[in-house]
Amino acid sequence: MSLLQATNISKVYGSKRGIEHKAIDNISLSIEKGEFVGVMGPSGSGKTTLLNMLSTIDRLSAGTLTINGEEITRLPKGKLAKFRRREMGFIFQDFNLLDTLTIAENIMLPLTLDGWKVKDMENKLAHVANQLSIDTILRNRSFEVSGGQMQRAAIARAIIHEPAIIFADEPTGNLDSKASRQVMEALAHLNREKEATTLMVSHDPFAASFCERILFIKDGKIFNQLNKGDNRQTFFQEILNVQSMLGGDNDDLQTVRV
Ligand SMILES: Nc1ncnc2c1ncn2[C@@H]1O[C@H](COP(=O)(O)OP(=O)(O)OP(=O)(O)O)[C@@H](O)[C@H]1O
Ligand SMILES: [Mg+2]
Repeated sequence: MSLLQATNISKVYGSKRGIEHKAIDNISLSIEKGEFVGVMGPSGSGKTTLLNMLSTIDRLSAGTLTINGEEITRLPKGKLAKFRRREMGFIFQDFNLLDTLTIAENIMLPLTLDGWKVKDMENKLAHVANQLSIDTILRNRSFEVSGGQMQRAAIARAIIHEPAIIFADEPTGNLDSKASRQVMEALAHLNREKEATTLMVSHDPFAASFCERILFIKDGKIFNQLNKGDNRQTFFQEILNVQSMLGGDNDDLQTVRV
């Protein structure tokens, strides 16, 4: 059984004038345990909507969603919140760290919310901080560290409770190329070593080339799919090719770097 199975899901947004807009149009997809899947597509194609549906932030207008054997569409609200907290990790473009807390406190937050003992939390913290090479900034506050360090701290927070699946929306969107590479290498490493199942939305072909499989979305539908062979550079070229077929934002090509 797949870790995540979406069947015929759609999202319809209403409008004031009564015109409906189908942002996601009857998509079916599945993600296996340990996969690293990217979602790409032009601006407005439905990437964020799809991610929010799959991560249970947004309700589906139609279709069914099953994650880790649990049919999300049937879960009552309270159970859904708990399921999300335990089974999911989130990484956002703007890091979403609380600046009143230290980096360490930010990272431990999911465990704090779940009532862990301090000693157990600290052991976990040391482990993930080491994995992401942020051991030296744990006592700092978020505004005292670099963007790349902030995002690696956010990744540590997303994985500390060992969720079944990690959702990332444009995780390199606010980073320069060096920090993007570090963040993507960290995500790819977690995926390989820990089998961390990951779904990432990105505009950036460089970031996306770290995924193992990419879904291209156009007008709310799956337009194409690419699998990485054994070479990331070749994969990067293939991504650019599909992007040029898709049309859309040409500024994607400004980010070319391998
Ligand atoms: N809350 C909303 N209400 C109405 N329409 C919405 C809402 N959110 C998104 N849309 C519309 O749904 C479509 C898909 O939006 P979405 O944010 O998923 O695109 P995206 O692919 O993530 O774009 P970008 O690359 O710019 O982030 C767009 O046409 C958008 O205008
Ligand atoms: Mg978006």
